[in-house]
Amino acid sequence: MTGIEGKVIAITGASSGIGEATALLLAERGAKVVLGARRADRLASLAARISTAGGEAAYESIDVKRHDDLTRLVALARERYGKLDVLVSNAGIGPISLLDDLRVDDWDEMIDVNIKGVLYGIAAALPVFREQGFGHFVHVVSTAGLKIVPMQSVYAGTKTRCAPSRRDCAKKPATSCA
Ligand SMILES: NC(=O)c1ccc[n+]([C@@H]2O[C@H](COP(=O)([O-])OP(=O)(O)OC[C@H]3O[C@@H](n4cnc5c(N)ncnc54)[C@H](OP(=O)(O)O)[C@@H]3O)[C@@H](O)[C@H]2O)c1
Repeated sequence: MTGIEGKVIAITGASSGIGEATALLLAERGAKVVLGARRADRLASLAARISTAGGEAAYESIDVKRHDDLTRLVALARERYGKLDVLVSNAGIGPISLLDDLRVDDWDEMIDVNIKGVLYGIAAALPVFREQGFGHFVHVVSTAGLKIVPMQSVYAGTKTRCAPSRRDCAKKPATSCA
């Protein structure tokens, strides 16, 4: 038994990229993964792949811009596996541009997905973690939030927002940035 084996881990943005790779690795190591993203067809394929390899996976089509959707993802973890150990808030977007370009719609979308999407995850899982007496948040941020480079000022701003929540949740449950 490793520290990962048997853990129930929900992952947002699991339909591609880092979220998909994270789900595969955790499932391979014995975690029961609960996959969330908008593209249900990709989530279904990933869940089937995990299941064929002997792992356990459930999935739900969610948009992290909706609080209720995060609540559904957390509920699925509890219904299917009886608990939630970890919520990995990975879903994120980065349509970078110069501020001069005034792509206000892109700014709004980054704020909604990268900041509010993480906060809605906290709102959905924190009451469950409190009730259980355990639980971890993992927030996928970016080096862009540490060293700001041209064209990434809005993205960088959305990727440093983990810090306040980490301080707020510092005692229990735990929150970490990855
Ligand atoms: N790639 C990098 O070099 C890099 C570096 C540092 C940090 N990051 C961070 O790592 C995370 C994953 O990035 P990635 O490179 O793996 O990108 P990606 O391949 O584009 O994956 C993004 C994931 O987020 C999901 N997503 C986007 N908007 C969503 C929404 N409104 N609701 C639910 N899910 C949504 C997408 O799924 P659907 O489209 O199916 O919803 C997809 O699964 C992001 O937070 C990103 O900022 C990436």
